[in-house]
Amino acid sequence: MERWIMSISLLTLACLVSYAAARSAENVQAYMVYLFAKDSNWDLNAAHAFCATWDADKPYEWRSKYNWTNFGDPNGPVGKEACGKCVQVTNTATGDETIVRIVGPSNWGLNLDKPVFDQLDSDGQGHVRGHLIVNYKFVDCDPKPSGPGEYNVTAYYSKDYNPVGNDWAYPPHAACAAMDGDKPLEWRNKYGWTGYCGKYASSNLEDTCGKCLKVTNTDTKDSEIVRIVDTCGSQALVLDKETGFDPIDTNGAGYLAGHLIVDYEFVDCEDEVGSPVAVYSQ
Ligand SMILES: *[C@@H]1O[C@H](CO)[C@@H](O)[C@H](O)[C@H]1NC(C)=O
Ligand SMILES: *[C@@H]1O[C@H](CO)[C@@H](O)[C@H](O)[C@H]1NC(C)=O
Repeated sequence: MERWIMSISLLTLACLVSYAAARSAENVQAYMVYLFAKDSNWDLNAAHAFCATWDADKPYEWRSKYNWTNFGDPNGPVGKEACGKCVQVTNTATGDETIVRIVGPSNWGLNLDKPVFDQLDSDGQGHVRGHLIVNYKFVDCDPKPSGPGEYNVTAYYSKDYNPVGNDWAYPPHAACAAMDGDKPLEWRNKYGWTGYCGKYASSNLEDTCGKCLKVTNTDTKDSEIVRIVDTCGSQALVLDKETGFDPIDTNGAGYLAGHLIVDYEFVDCEDEVGSPVAVYSQ
């Protein structure tokens, strides 16, 4: 047993570098197993879960927050590194979707605890076939609540910022240039750009500059995260045409109308998440 665990952690080291590539996968098999999460009152020791060593002492709220799965993907986190992480799973046949927490390894794909397998298998075909075909992606188990926002506001576009053509250098006329112009390139080019003059714009630039907004095109439902680099005059947003407006104007109707109607909310920019490994250490 101990030798096995040791070889697993060596594997883990070998896999650290490939984490970024393994954050999601499509058309993966998901089998039903009995992990007895609920029957063991979400006690990882009582359920003999592999991850009990590391996670059995976590509070009940943590252990019972999501249904359980075993996880195995040679390109993903392995062994201890996978323990406690959360995966959003979508049944490709029905679109049913949920989030599950990893409590141990599987030989391949996902091994879902029976209750959550049944939940995703709403057309019963998973039981007929013996497994589901799912897409999965790693997600934050404890997403921060998003900030304030507005619905149905006008978002214009501007070609004046032109970050792509200028190595993401802030143009002098951008109100946030003095504050954020010296930030590293990886910071400046992490998201598309926007000017912001919505309901929550503060007269104190420091409260808005560099903050991030999740913006959703109400017409197409396409959404993105953009960073505030400027103020603007009226309405709520002036999106950089190339990096902010076009990516969510997927049907071109916004360009024709001269603006989009969007919902937006303030979200965490996750600027402190530097390496791909940190993505998993939630
Ligand atoms: C686990 O799955 C069951 C069955 O679908 C569901 O009723 C329950 O709410 C889920 N529990 C959690 C913590 O998500
Ligand atoms: C946004 O506008 C749409 C279409 O006019 C309307 O159906 C919806 O209720 C509005 N949303 C809010 C939150 O006001």
